[in-house]
Amino acid sequence: MDRTFVMVKPDGYARGLVGRIVARFEEKGFKLTDAKVMHLSREHAERHYEHLSAKPFFGELVDFIVSGPVFAMIWEGKDAIKNARALIGATNPSEALVGTIRGDYALDVASNIIHGSDSEESAEREIKLFFH
Ligand code: TYD
Repeated sequence: MDRTFVMVKPDGYARGLVGRIVARFEEKGFKLTDAKVMHLSREHAERHYEHLSAKPFFGELVDFIVSGPVFAMIWEGKDAIKNARALIGATNPSEALVGTIRGDYALDVASNIIHGSDSEESAEREIKLFFH
């Protein structure tokens, strides 16, 4: 069974969206196999986003992701990575379709409320980083 890593970011957690986001994944048919509230260290956040370290928004992204608690999850299901990304919607909420999580709950790319792994390699790397 495929699995993927998903995280409600500090803005989603602060806005009380954890329950609704969990419900959407359950309604789609995914199984939650692990989950926890965490407050990431700067080092952890920098490792999670290391592939973006050359981007101009990297500093702000790390500041944002350590600014408050996050809710980290492992979801299992058929084509988990692809299907979770479809549920989450486009990176920029202005381009995310209504009916997707970002399309329904977010407006700004810098605070797009949720993360989902974008490949098998990143899913395995992120599951190890957050759950081992
Ligand atoms: P990325 O991995 O490209 O997108 P996704 O989260 O959809 O896999 O980018 C990681 C995060 O970086 C993204 O969720 C929000 C933030 N970000 C910005 O703040 N500004 C930007 O221009 C981009 C592309 C991303």
